[in-house]
Amino acid sequence: MNRREFARLLAIGGAAPFVSPKVAWARPSDLPPTPASPDEKFWTAVRDQFVMPKDLAMLNAANLCPSSAPVLETLYKFTKDMDQDPSFDNRAKLGDGRETTRKLLAEFLRVTPEEIVITRNTSESNNLVSTGIDLKAGDEVLLTADNHPSNHTAWQEKAKRFGFTVKDVPVPNPHPGPEHYVEAFRKMITPQTKVISFTHLTSTVGDLFPAKELCKLARDRGILSLVDGAQTFGLMDVDLSDMQPDFYSGSAHKWPCGPKENGVLYINKASQAKIWASIFSAYPGRVGVSKTFEGFGQRDEPAMIAFGEALTFQTKIGRAQIEKRSRELTQALIAGLKKVDGVKIWTSPDPTRTVAVLSFQPGNLDVRKLSLALYQKDHIGCATRGGTDRPGIRLSPHFYNTMADVDRTVAAIKTYMASGV
Ligand SMILES: Cc1ncc(COP(=O)(O)O)c(C=O)c1O
Repeated sequence: MNRREFARLLAIGGAAPFVSPKVAWARPSDLPPTPASPDEKFWTAVRDQFVMPKDLAMLNAANLCPSSAPVLETLYKFTKDMDQDPSFDNRAKLGDGRETTRKLLAEFLRVTPEEIVITRNTSESNNLVSTGIDLKAGDEVLLTADNHPSNHTAWQEKAKRFGFTVKDVPVPNPHPGPEHYVEAFRKMITPQTKVISFTHLTSTVGDLFPAKELCKLARDRGILSLVDGAQTFGLMDVDLSDMQPDFYSGSAHKWPCGPKENGVLYINKASQAKIWASIFSAYPGRVGVSKTFEGFGQRDEPAMIAFGEALTFQTKIGRAQIEKRSRELTQALIAGLKKVDGVKIWTSPDPTRTVAVLSFQPGNLDVRKLSLALYQKDHIGCATRGGTDRPGIRLSPHFYNTMADVDRTVAAIKTYMASGV
């Protein structure tokens, strides 16, 4: 290729792939060991493992989290290896890597690899359950009014087809306490109830549900339980051996900071005979329930391996420490916003009622305009909720956020509340 041709190629394709074939993302230092009492310096070093620009405060973990540099490097390394040599022989190690991720998932959730299906996201996991359980006319499914569409619309649509009935447990605001929900579910259970399905931590206003107690309530009555863990997997130090749901779902791209389009469905050993698989194709998993439930055809195995790396990254930092940190950041946001005139907080500060998803109404300000101003002028990323039911701004901080992010977010909202957007 002569110089002119090379210059033309650069102009068409962009220079980066040609001049910078490196795998590693620059970061100031390696991840330090977690001290017994992590301070702001430690969490800043954690922040440095992410490739987001320093002035971007992402407070939208409930929607999508960034992957850390080690996860991106793993994804790139295995993708490159696969594309350099896509033979079956070279790819055999990717299948091994997928099983390693299954083991890591089992350890992370404190269950066995035989109970783990690696899906594409929470939506798919939830739908595998609502499609896979044999339900007929006369049967009832109890949901909550704040379930995500993948765990609400999905059941309603399947009810139309199979004839079962869906009922919603109302979700009052403010959160009335964990005991309220145990009683509310207990009251709505009938001899026809076959499944209860709720969201561990809601994406609407961050209400925490008493998962262990609700699963026990169901189990004692021979009712199946599906816990939508999209907002707790990778945030809370979840222990499914203690919670004992029949099914638990989660996404890699949310709180675990893993790659996109990977997820998990836990199927309790005791419940595996009570659910049918919905998708049959080649390339299932190698152990337990994954042999029948994970045959989704060709998968992105490098991404599945990177999913394992994300779990290792969090485990290295310490899962209890990550939950504690996210809770502290949320409490600091609540404390700051409470002092801003006109702000109405929808989320209870009580640690038995919430974790790290916080939602508030900024007086009469237009939430979309406010969110846009926060992003464009202040480099703060958040989510909005329109309509008339608890409308507002949702903030969901995670372990890559700093107290400086919290302070400048509260300060920016205070300014907009005083002077408008
Ligand atoms: C509670 C809950 N369930 C399910 C989902 C769907 O997750 P995904 O888009 O990863 O399938 C979400 C997404 O925000 C959620 O908040």
